[in-house]
Amino acid sequence: MAILITGGAGYIGSHTCVELLEAGYEVVVVDNLSNSSEVSINRVTGITKKSFAFYEMDLLDREGLDKVFTKHSIDAVIHLAGLKAVGESVRMPLSYYHTNIMSTLVLCEVMKEHNVHKLVFSSSATVYGLPEQVPIVEDSSLGATNPYGRTKLMLEQILQDLAESNERWGISILRYFNPVGAHQSGQIGENPNGIPNNLMPYISQVAVGKLAQVNVFGNDYPTIDGTGVRDYIHVVDLAKGHLRALEKQLDISGVHIYNLGTGRGYSVLEMITAFESVTGQSVPYRIVERRPGDIGLCYADTAKANMELGWFATRSIEEMCQDTWRWQRLNPNGYEGEKIHHLLTN
Ligand code: UD1
Repeated sequence: MAILITGGAGYIGSHTCVELLEAGYEVVVVDNLSNSSEVSINRVTGITKKSFAFYEMDLLDREGLDKVFTKHSIDAVIHLAGLKAVGESVRMPLSYYHTNIMSTLVLCEVMKEHNVHKLVFSSSATVYGLPEQVPIVEDSSLGATNPYGRTKLMLEQILQDLAESNERWGISILRYFNPVGAHQSGQIGENPNGIPNNLMPYISQVAVGKLAQVNVFGNDYPTIDGTGVRDYIHVVDLAKGHLRALEKQLDISGVHIYNLGTGRGYSVLEMITAFESVTGQSVPYRIVERRPGDIGLCYADTAKANMELGWFATRSIEEMCQDTWRWQRLNPNGYEGEKIHHLLTN
């Protein structure tokens, strides 16, 4: 069975490729490498000892995508490709709407033309906006606070309309909480461009000496120690969630929405302390102003994914820190500077 993974060279994509290849699926990756590296494709092959097709291609290239569907007999798609930086989306809304919305429309149109109706879509807890209550359940009210979040919200609505138009469509919408960690091999992990926006890569770059200290955005939230609380989930657990959603999706139709988190929140200071104690590295920090648009408390109710997908996040905060650190230590500059071995030619 062949699965197309868009954005398969990225952080979540590369880990999802590993899980699918290890489960015996044929994998086809399309990625324009705008925020990812082809090195990750080589690394996935190294981890799994399995090769797979990779196309450096933009999803807006309809003809190119059509050729991929013609060449490979695709059974289902895991759609992860898209722009994802909140601050950037505020500065470049047109680019976010154009890229995220248009690419998904082109993808769905090409899928339809090729009679492929099974889709797993990458959404985000950001669609809950300012949550009314925690833990957050899937049918909570929605409302994004920035263009990036609005693209996810709009795409969720577009996919629901699509599924209503024809019962052959089976679509899983996965709302990620805060993915962190890396594959236990230390070969693939998060590789942010420039200075990281997200907490965990920032902490690990401070620990490895690339950045001086963590700026903790506010300590006056109504949380355990005043700093923001999030539901950090190990990226390998998240990748396994895609596999479970895909397997379920192959047998059913309609839209199914799942939170992928652990159901437990940790504060910024708890994350820093956990990282220090697991790695033995000191992580200096200072308290600064709140980051505009941030919320205090955000963690998932995971009962739906647990029950319907039989999926549970099992990796602890210690493993998240350990695996992040192994990846960071082995790859202080991410994938930069590594030569690509063209094992796979298309
Ligand atoms: C952010 C995005 C969210 C996106 C998610 C995944 C914002 C406002 N939200 O979520 O839309 O889906 O990433 O990419 O950007 N923190 C610090 N110092 C730092 C970085 C973060 O104190 O240098 C704090 C934040 O205030 C927050 C927590 O750490 O309390 C987690 O932040 P982050 O990793 O950026 O994730 P989110 O803000 O939850």
